[in-house]
Amino acid sequence: MIPTLEWLPTGVNFLDQTKLPLEETYVLATDYKQVATVIRDMIVRGAPAIGVSAAMGMAIGIDRSIATTLPALTEEVALIAKTLAETRPTAVNLFWGIDEIRNLYIQLAAKDTAISEIKSAVVAKARRMYDEDIAACKQMGAHGASLLPKEGTVLTHCNAGALATCGYGSALGVIRAAIERGHKIDVFADETRPFLQGARLTAWELMKDNIPTTVLCDNMAASLMRQGRIQAVIVGADRIAANGDVANKIGTYGVAILAKEHNIPFYVAAPWSTLDLATAHGDSIPIEQRDAREVTHSNGKQMTPNGVAIENPAFDVTPAKYVTAIITERGVLTAPYNNSIRAMSKQTESE
Ligand code: MRU
Repeated sequence: MIPTLEWLPTGVNFLDQTKLPLEETYVLATDYKQVATVIRDMIVRGAPAIGVSAAMGMAIGIDRSIATTLPALTEEVALIAKTLAETRPTAVNLFWGIDEIRNLYIQLAAKDTAISEIKSAVVAKARRMYDEDIAACKQMGAHGASLLPKEGTVLTHCNAGALATCGYGSALGVIRAAIERGHKIDVFADETRPFLQGARLTAWELMKDNIPTTVLCDNMAASLMRQGRIQAVIVGADRIAANGDVANKIGTYGVAILAKEHNIPFYVAAPWSTLDLATAHGDSIPIEQRDAREVTHSNGKQMTPNGVAIENPAFDVTPAKYVTAIITERGVLTAPYNNSIRAMSKQTESE
């Protein structure tokens, strides 16, 4: 399995996704500030991977703290959480990852636990979250595999694979699971301008697994759908509102509309940590605006005239009405999502 990120005795080691597919290099973050930089600069990216990275950032910050009293450590924990929370706004997994560790810290501090014990507990928790993320991806695969065609071509947008998680992937995990169960699936990977997660990352990791993959420019999907060459679409998500609206990589919304027009199922695969029940609908999801240079330049070369205005929203929102089903590790959700999400949330709470 591709080691997207890894807790080591020396720090948190990240596969540098900005260098793929040409270079397989790693960046070792030895303190929480470096973890924050790694997330902001998209050395690690993809909502589930960001969530676990944030948890590891919290854990390394607490573990390496030189505070000798709980009040001093509590102040530091607030600063660590703030620094990590300011990296990227859209993927709710980031805030989930921070909260998981912060809540554990608060619980232990309230019981006057020794600082050394708190340190071991938060590190153990962050490492468990890594394992649980891989297990969640496998479960999404088990729940979603039968939704994909027995034979055909599946379109995906961005990278919701092993590289976007701790391993196996969400959307690409469902594709992997279907193939493991005997489906004959070819993948069309949208290149995903401007950061090229599809061309660089999805193509790289699927080729490593010998999954037949073809890269498309983002503007080619419509024509291929019209020709009957796409049987299903599956993507990941950065945040799913309580009504089932899905924030995902910019361009996803267009693909969803195209899929509906051509009667092609449009699936979203995401762990439960991507659901944001506190956000009623997609219009309230904060959308990250990134540096214009990602659009103006390609491989260091300027592609646009000096001074031209640029838009670079990193995500868009696909209204729930375009989503055929949402595949989670707890099961498959269908419309009306307000009801199905609430019901599955309650069911798991009572178990
Ligand atoms: O900007 P990125 O590369 O972090 O955006 C990633 C995506 O939009 C993914 O589709 C999403 O996070 C789901 S990853 C399992």
